[in-house]
Amino acid sequence: VEPDAAWRDEVRRLVEQRDAVLLAHNYQLPEIQDIADFTGDSLALSRIAAESSASTIVFCGVHFMAETAKILSPGKTVLIPDERAGCSLADSITAADLREWKAQHPNAVVVSYVNTTAEVKAETDICCTSSNAVDVVASIPADKEVLFCPDQFLGAHVKRVTGRDNIHIWAGECHVHAAINGPELAERASQDPSADLFVHPECGCATSALYLAGEGIVPSEKVKILSTGDMVKEAKATNARSVLVATEIGMLHQLRKAAPEIDFRAVNDRASCRYMKMITPAALLRSLRENKDEVHVDPETAARARASVQRMIEIGQ
Ligand code: 13P
Ligand code: SF4
Repeated sequence: VEPDAAWRDEVRRLVEQRDAVLLAHNYQLPEIQDIADFTGDSLALSRIAAESSASTIVFCGVHFMAETAKILSPGKTVLIPDERAGCSLADSITAADLREWKAQHPNAVVVSYVNTTAEVKAETDICCTSSNAVDVVASIPADKEVLFCPDQFLGAHVKRVTGRDNIHIWAGECHVHAAINGPELAERASQDPSADLFVHPECGCATSALYLAGEGIVPSEKVKILSTGDMVKEAKATNARSVLVATEIGMLHQLRKAAPEIDFRAVNDRASCRYMKMITPAALLRSLRENKDEVHVDPETAARARASVQRMIEIGQ
């Protein structure tokens, strides 16, 4: 299937016919981003899914995102074009792991990144995304212990910004972001000293970026730790001529659209998420034609998970 005009017409016709809303994450293939009704980060897409009046949500992203939409809108049909689109970070903690961890810290507040399964969300007090993780943790009384899972790099970022020392961090990671490493970032930054650095907090190099700033190797005002949605906002606001981007490479498409005059370059151009890329033009067409793959969440689990997801979409509005 070629993403040509005939494909675009057919996709849009089926979206209207199904009374659907088509959502795409910033890491999707450019042609998928361009045909969606909304493209954004995980928090923005969750909010749209919660508020949409469409009867079907077609989620072009990974499974936990579609599951989150189903948790928020149990009465809607939620489709993902390929249900095999998982997430290595979500796989790094199970509900049983979390129950065991909670038993060791019975009074702690559990904050889970949205990149988790519905079962983990059901064991969670407040979910967060990369764009509101700091606000979520800051909303918890200072004397309360916090369990933060599953991303160790986002956890370290939150700990650094909030200055909190009663936060325990799970040792999970996203294989794509963890592989964007400090030496690679330092080399790219030294080749282009006037560039801004846009760094996603899931990156293994987020600490290195701050180290570079701390050592005066890169001016500290050029180092920006941002969610994917905040990267788009910053692209419109910065006066930099070039920007080094440390995140999944699908992001470059929205950045270039937002600020065509800026030279955006990936810190690691092999940082591609194979799960995000399972949502192909052919998979999207099949999904709309056959009403597949439908996302189901056990109603009892969804009811338990809903409170934590609801708090997530309310904090940092
Ligand atoms: P955000 O879009 O919330 O920044 O999340 C990034 C991510 O890794 C999603 O898989
Ligand atoms: Fe998961 Fe990483 Fe892929 Fe995002 S980029 S979906 S965190 S594996």
